[in-house]
Amino acid sequence: MKIVLPAGSPMHSSDFLFGVATSSFQIEGAADQRLPSIWDTFCDKPGAILDGSNARDACDHLARWEEDVELMVSMGLDAYRFSISWPRVLKEDGSLNQEGIGFYQRLIDSLNQNNIKPFVTLYHWDLPQHLEDQGGWLNRDTAYRFRDYADVVSRTLGDGVYSYATLNEPYCSSYLSYELGIHAPGLKDPAKAKQAAHHLLLAHGLAMPVLKENCPDALSGIVLNLSPCYPETESEIDRLAAKLADQYFNGWYAKPVLEGAYPKLMEMLPKEVRPDIMEGDLEVISHPLDYLGLNYYTRGVYRAGENTSFAQVMPENVALSDMGWEIFPQGLTDLLQTLDEDYDLPPVFITESGVALKDQLVEGTVSDPDRTAYIHQHLGALDLAMRGGVDVRGYFTWSLMDNFEWAEGYSKRFGLAYVDYATQERIVKESGIAYRDLLLSRTKEAA
Ligand code: FCB
Repeated sequence: MKIVLPAGSPMHSSDFLFGVATSSFQIEGAADQRLPSIWDTFCDKPGAILDGSNARDACDHLARWEEDVELMVSMGLDAYRFSISWPRVLKEDGSLNQEGIGFYQRLIDSLNQNNIKPFVTLYHWDLPQHLEDQGGWLNRDTAYRFRDYADVVSRTLGDGVYSYATLNEPYCSSYLSYELGIHAPGLKDPAKAKQAAHHLLLAHGLAMPVLKENCPDALSGIVLNLSPCYPETESEIDRLAAKLADQYFNGWYAKPVLEGAYPKLMEMLPKEVRPDIMEGDLEVISHPLDYLGLNYYTRGVYRAGENTSFAQVMPENVALSDMGWEIFPQGLTDLLQTLDEDYDLPPVFITESGVALKDQLVEGTVSDPDRTAYIHQHLGALDLAMRGGVDVRGYFTWSLMDNFEWAEGYSKRFGLAYVDYATQERIVKESGIAYRDLLLSRTKEAA
């Protein structure tokens, strides 16, 4: 099975970047060489992680990063998206931990030497525990601490970084973390979720001008995970449900960042759950972006709920990933087109797209045709949106290798390379070979 780009697709251009993505907590390990984060604490909570695991070792990337860069080189990647661990690079007093930042400096140098563009995410959920002890994202001051962290890091890394993302998926670090309680720090309080979301967005907005000042040549933006919302039926009430869900899950993050306003739904919420917003916050949050990063995995289908304004339903007879997420490539086309209609969009990167499957290592190989098909179909869906006029500059597969999948522990595999956690061996899956073949054929075409 192969991944083929549609004939004449703008993705054939050598300016279109193909990459893979990871995040610090999920792959690095070497937890003893950094401060604890909220995810370390969360992993220690009985029942929080499906397989009772933690990420103290994860993929041992800190020790094996050179081998991992070689793997990226062998795949012909244009770009690598990874995140910086805040508790690894800053000490409690906010000063730099030289050893911690040194790791990222070596990684970035090596990527640049190999013509792989470094896409750095500053916050992929691993908040230092000592900041959580002072209130974490419920404390407005954390947003200012994030700005300071972004400042020190971007000054230190200099011009080796091609792109910065302030936050990865604030929906997850507020809604999943403070409302559903399934991510760190594990609270179940809708009002707190909204306050945390506001402070996260504020952190993003405060960091943007700092990044632009320190690294004017780097592309700076934010990464949002948006799932298009569809009504279960064409009835008016279901369509309204889908619209409200869209404001709650997508607009809540996209609209303040892109337009400097929260969705109308905010006014419909009881006063007690609305966040404290200070004058000028929305102006800060809507600082112009060089790009918008989008993570796309699935869609949501909604009907009017019995006691709520919307309830999610799982359509019947659809293909599901090992996460239980519907595989729905068309959602990527629809999402991009809708965003393009609704907003004055900056250039877009698809910063994550991928699928968890029940991968098995059999006689040294992993046969995962469904992952190859997934990438093929999602690139097809992306092609349609681009031909429709949406300015998309690159596509990153989640993930380079299997890793610690948050509340699911090591039970879910998303990688292009299989990780044998007993030996830490990386074995490129058939989908990884297909991705490599696509990228290498492109290089040849361009040459
Ligand atoms: C995204 C996260 C990423 C990974 C994938 C499967 O929401 O950004 O870290 O867990 O989901």
